[in-house]
Amino acid sequence: MSAGAVYRRRTSLSSLPAVSAYSSPGFLLSFEGSEGCGKSTQIRLLKERLENAGRKVEVLREPGGTEIGESIRHLLQHAKEGHSMTPETELLLFAASRAQIVREKIRPLVESGVFVILDRFLDSTTVYQGHARGLPLDAVNAINRFAIGGTLPQLTLLLDLDVQTAWQRIHATGRELDRMESQPPEFFEKVRQGYLSLAKAEPERIQIIDANATPEVVHEAVWKQVAARLA
Ligand code: TMP
Repeated sequence: MSAGAVYRRRTSLSSLPAVSAYSSPGFLLSFEGSEGCGKSTQIRLLKERLENAGRKVEVLREPGGTEIGESIRHLLQHAKEGHSMTPETELLLFAASRAQIVREKIRPLVESGVFVILDRFLDSTTVYQGHARGLPLDAVNAINRFAIGGTLPQLTLLLDLDVQTAWQRIHATGRELDRMESQPPEFFEKVRQGYLSLAKAEPERIQIIDANATPEVVHEAVWKQVAARLA
């Protein structure tokens, strides 16, 4: 049965099988979390550890990860014309970038045995465009389903951090903030609560990691989850 056939017979995201259900030898893991949660550091540490253990690893970021996706990323984050973007346009651009990366990169890599780490995936859209921007969740879920076409991560690690600590971390960098980072703290509280409610709804796939600790401590918690799935 093709992945598309599986997808068409299912109705909700949580009932979709993870990518391994298509007997792929690789692994698909996504990292999620608000700005300042330490995602980049954790992805780097996990990649190094997996490679030391002999796994072939690829990190892909969203939005982006393909030529088309990187153009969309620029439009979403830095282009001056992006400042007049409506939430609906924003949703569709994130979904367009995802539709491309799923088919161009993720599926071929996982099918060839690679451990793929996604720096954000569909849950970012549910939370940022749905919970935080306030677009109707049924529309967001339907668009997400269309974009991923049944390709769900086997494991999603949510790096959870309180908004105040995250805010301090972002501002401590001293760099110019992008369009999304410039949102007020209330937006990021909605993002955090959105993520927590998703984790509650999908406890098998989404594991919460306390990100309010040193990178080494957080990494051990990440590794515990990954090692358990690989065992
Ligand atoms: P990042 O470089 O920190 O991952 O930035 C990506 C930004 O885009 C971040 O603010 C989250 C946001 N985003 C969405 O709003 N929806 C999405 O679907 C994705 C993937 C990211």
